[in-house]
Amino acid sequence: MATLKAVRGTRDLLPPETALWNYVDETARDVFTRYGFGEIRTPIFEDTALFARGVGEETDIVSKEMYTWQDRTRADSDSAQSLTLRPENTAGVVRAYIEHKLADTGMLQKLFYIGPQFRRERPQRGRYRQFWQIGAEVLGPAWSGADSALRDAEVLEMLSTFLNELGVKGWKLEVNSVGSSTDRPKYIAALREALAPVKDRMSADNQRRAETNPLRVLDSKDAGDQEIIDGLPKIADFLDETSKEHFAQVLAALDACGVAYTVNPRLVRGLDYYTRTTFEFTVPDGSGLGTQNALLGGGRYDGLSELLGGPKAPGIGFAIGEDRLILTLQAQEAVAKEQKLDAFIAPMGVERNAAALALAQELRQSGLSVEVGDGSFRLKKSFEAADKLARTMVIVGEEEVSSGILTVKDFSAGEQTKVPRAELVSFLRA
Ligand code: HAM
Repeated sequence: MATLKAVRGTRDLLPPETALWNYVDETARDVFTRYGFGEIRTPIFEDTALFARGVGEETDIVSKEMYTWQDRTRADSDSAQSLTLRPENTAGVVRAYIEHKLADTGMLQKLFYIGPQFRRERPQRGRYRQFWQIGAEVLGPAWSGADSALRDAEVLEMLSTFLNELGVKGWKLEVNSVGSSTDRPKYIAALREALAPVKDRMSADNQRRAETNPLRVLDSKDAGDQEIIDGLPKIADFLDETSKEHFAQVLAALDACGVAYTVNPRLVRGLDYYTRTTFEFTVPDGSGLGTQNALLGGGRYDGLSELLGGPKAPGIGFAIGEDRLILTLQAQEAVAKEQKLDAFIAPMGVERNAAALALAQELRQSGLSVEVGDGSFRLKKSFEAADKLARTMVIVGEEEVSSGILTVKDFSAGEQTKVPRAELVSFLRA
């Protein structure tokens, strides 16, 4: 019989690697909490219309990459609902913001999330069909300060702190402004006009983009098209005064906080909802990501809530590709090697199993990490297992049980010591 495997583009995460994932999650929770964020958990599948409206029909994500299916018809209705595994979480968070009337609090909402997303992309290193994002959204009514440039800079400064606390080396922040929802159509029209006479000389992909979504031509990596792309109009020349002023304030606040950045006039990003500030953090070549070097991306949006039937709620957010962050940390060896357990308890003979388990219980309750062997193991096998897993081995033999004095082998010091049971916890902690 053919063996079943994880579906293409998905993968299992196993220990000890999962410890690194948990460490990254904990660091995110810790840092984001310091900036006043709270966690939101939204469903993994949503009504397909949420993404069609919220992310945009013409985006690659919605037009090609979603896992969508018709749900079973309900008894009380004759049409089946179309459902989709979330390809990203900004639309879901804004839906929840509207559904729970968070606007009525009048307060700025600072929400973060950690969880899997699904896109049917061509799998490669750093690109999966089920991948994890750690993201956040800051949104609220305009009077809550949600559209202030201070929020953009705060988010970017928080991300730089997060990456630094994790020890990510050599990250780069690129920023741009894609203008307001009135600047963008003007710019897109100018792009279309500039592309019309030259697009026949471009790659098939870019010819298609020039028709459907000209902004996407700008972040194309097609080497043969770069000269044409460099000659296209720049969004900076189409910004109105308020967008220009907003962008200048973001950059000034980043300067004040000492966060280094580069302005990349071609950074438009692939989702329809962006207005004004957009950004991406990348890591240098050799950080384990190959060509997928965008660690995270995000930007400001205005109009998304209204598109989903809600009140005006400008916001800014980001999503970190957690798979990519983990690959980077591993390649850069930024994190300490796996931690060993405090002790391995080796019962000598199956009659000592109960005593060994009771000792393990006591040690674990006092906060030590402990593994128990088995009385059927020969001493040599216990030593080998203990040396792999733990810093020390505690022998539980007949003599140890009757005398209450345990034999402890310390692997790093290469010493064997007799320790009274009452002193064992403090001995192992030292
Ligand atoms: P995005 O740029 O589509 O933005 O995704 C953010 C990050 O998710 C990327 O920079 C990348 O690290 C990671 N990512 C995307 N696709 C994959 C994949 N197939 N495999 C592995 N990692 C991947 C968003 O999703 C927006 N919702 C971000 C946002 C929040 N903007 C405003 N608020």
